Amino acid sequence: MAKTKTSAFFCQSCGYESVKWMGQCPGCKEWNSFVEELVDRKSLSTSGKLKPASGAKPVPLSAIHALDEERVSTSMPELDRVLGGGIVKGSLVLIGGDPGIGKSTLLLQVCRNLAAKEISVLYVSGEESLQQIKLRAERIGSFTDKLTLLCETDLDSIRGVIEQGKPEIVVIDSIQTMFHDSIASAPGSVSQVREATAVLMQIAKGMGISIFIVGHVTKEGVVAGPRVLEHMVDTVLYFEGDRHESYRILRGVKNRFGSTNEIGVFEMRTEGLAEVENASEYMLSGKPKDASGSVVACSVEGTRPVLLEIQALVCHSYFNNPRRTATGTDFNRVNLLMAVLEKRLGMQLSDCDAYVNIAGGIRMNEPAIDLGIVLAIISSKLDLTIDEHMICFGEVGLSGEVRGVSMAEQRIQEAAKLGFSTCILPEVCKNAVHGTEGIRLIGVSNVKEALQVISH
Ligand code: TYD
Ligand code: MG
Repeated sequence: MAKTKTSAFFCQSCGYESVKWMGQCPGCKEWNSFVEELVDRKSLSTSGKLKPASGAKPVPLSAIHALDEERVSTSMPELDRVLGGGIVKGSLVLIGGDPGIGKSTLLLQVCRNLAAKEISVLYVSGEESLQQIKLRAERIGSFTDKLTLLCETDLDSIRGVIEQGKPEIVVIDSIQTMFHDSIASAPGSVSQVREATAVLMQIAKGMGISIFIVGHVTKEGVVAGPRVLEHMVDTVLYFEGDRHESYRILRGVKNRFGSTNEIGVFEMRTEGLAEVENASEYMLSGKPKDASGSVVACSVEGTRPVLLEIQALVCHSYFNNPRRTATGTDFNRVNLLMAVLEKRLGMQLSDCDAYVNIAGGIRMNEPAIDLGIVLAIISSKLDLTIDEHMICFGEVGLSGEVRGVSMAEQRIQEAAKLGFSTCILPEVCKNAVHGTEGIRLIGVSNVKEALQVISH
């Protein structure tokens, strides 16, 4: 008979499997992350129990009638948008993020909203006691009896409770605390996390229950990162933000039922998370007036334009290797843009320290903010203040050309809505946009022209 229980070594940060111990993981290059785990080859995730029980038959695509997915609104438009329009029945949603960022708070608020709509919700916590959840709930507000709580970490008992109570939505907080008897290794290890997700997936798909899973991400690799289960779930959302700042960004990374790269902006208040509808206004609050090195750029996240302030500080360097940093954007991109300025504008930057920062702690990597970075650097270097009612967007290429970007109209409309009077944009976009009254458009085709515009 084939041996079903074997042991293998798993990288606790990425899930790489190896027959022998290794110092460094070949998958994610993490050091000292391998832990030996007993693997039951007959376990759910590997035994094929998840395959359809009856004989699988292929069907032609035309014979399938597409049903409109049933979606339930969470009464939080910011979250609904990231989910692609609401919670899809029978979907598995993973919410990842650093500890303390607000995952439990967000989900408890979602539970409250759903329970208020007479939808039965089960909140399973493996981390907090019922009293702790009650304390948190008291900060958030009042709850109806449609929400039931359970403190449990054994997946078999949880499955029993779900089968008995048949809730429509289940929250599992967090996947790292759950365990299944068939796996010998400790909760939080890669095989436990994988197995637990497989069980939850069976419940979700089999019974048509939508399940939210909370997953912690730790850099140390002590707890298995939820990255190993990203491919198993339908939707992956990441909750980001600085724990010391009050706002949080919920970002869609994978979504089988909607577009990714949507963001939802929240603010952590004393009474829970509040939605920030006008993200641009929020990002721009506190922008200095008449300061050089500060410019407003427009980036698009999913379908939504977000205005943000880009700051640069360029000053003389007293070292052979000038110091450069980029906060909130790509460091290499900043270096590249500085090289473009050096070459195409003849600007002496090689002996300058440069610090580029996207104010507000948000991360933006869209190429459309290139022009903003370039103008902020020029403005700081030449000590030129940029009109505070001006915004810009555009991609900058290696020959210093300003290239067109998508969704120019939406960007301009967002700027006009927030009271900006001038917009510097790529020449090609200027010729293509229509219906943008109330804001002056200045088309530029290279960085030289952009410099001329701001030096007036
Ligand atoms: P929490 O949801 O417990 O984080 P996670 O589940 O992601 O680990 O959030 C914890 C933080 O949020 C904690 O530091 C306290 C803060 N908080 C508020 O500021 N206001 C509130 O109303 C609540 C409930 C929490
Ligand atoms: Mg929590």
